[in-house]
Amino acid sequence: MNAVIFDLDGVICFTDQYHFKAWKQLADSIGVYFDEKINDRLRGVSRMDSLNIILERSSKEYSEEEKEKMAEQKNTIYVKLLENMSPEDLSDEVKETLDELRKRGYKLAIGSSSKNTKKILGQIGLKDYFDAISDGTNIARSKPDPEVFQKAAEMLDETPESCLVVEDAMAGIEAACKGNFQSAGIGEAAKHSNVTYPIRTFSDLLKLCPALQ
Ligand code: BG6
Ligand code: MG
Repeated sequence: MNAVIFDLDGVICFTDQYHFKAWKQLADSIGVYFDEKINDRLRGVSRMDSLNIILERSSKEYSEEEKEKMAEQKNTIYVKLLENMSPEDLSDEVKETLDELRKRGYKLAIGSSSKNTKKILGQIGLKDYFDAISDGTNIARSKPDPEVFQKAAEMLDETPESCLVVEDAMAGIEAACKGNFQSAGIGEAAKHSNVTYPIRTFSDLLKLCPALQ
């Protein structure tokens, strides 16, 4: 293994509550039921796919144009909420583990479905930290398709087999698996039947990644 590709939301930092608040506000405004359990299904899923999951509860059919507008409304609320994030939202455990992996010789990248990746990295003080950032802005297909990780590996000039993907979402482990990446699953993703390494906490990565050379 030469490189580690991290999912962002739910792995490096926690934006769940902001996604939930923003989707809830949107769902309430169109009279559609939405709760934490439905929110769990949105993990790792693109913005438009997330909206389609929320609209499963709607009796009304919406045009693509209306959906685009709704997704944009949600994003405006979400981006405003992201202003609350600061370097304090990056835990010491995550920062120290990243620093140690770098010291051990690994290339480090982000592989996230979010189009707000760069904004979030800026908020938490990791703007120029990673060797590559592959995100919702450079892919056509979102997880469980492996494209976001394949692009990250290309940017790093590595093969999938030499990269470890770190994920908290089932869709992310599926994507890693389809793309022939090894995976470390944290939280719910640790339970995926195809995960290479289930981990309990972020710093467990240090047990999987010995110093290179
Ligand atoms: C993923 C989140 O990282 O990004 C999903 O887990 C989210 O919940 C997706 O829907 C897309 O995010 P954004 O910021 O482009 O709306
Ligand atoms: Mg995630």
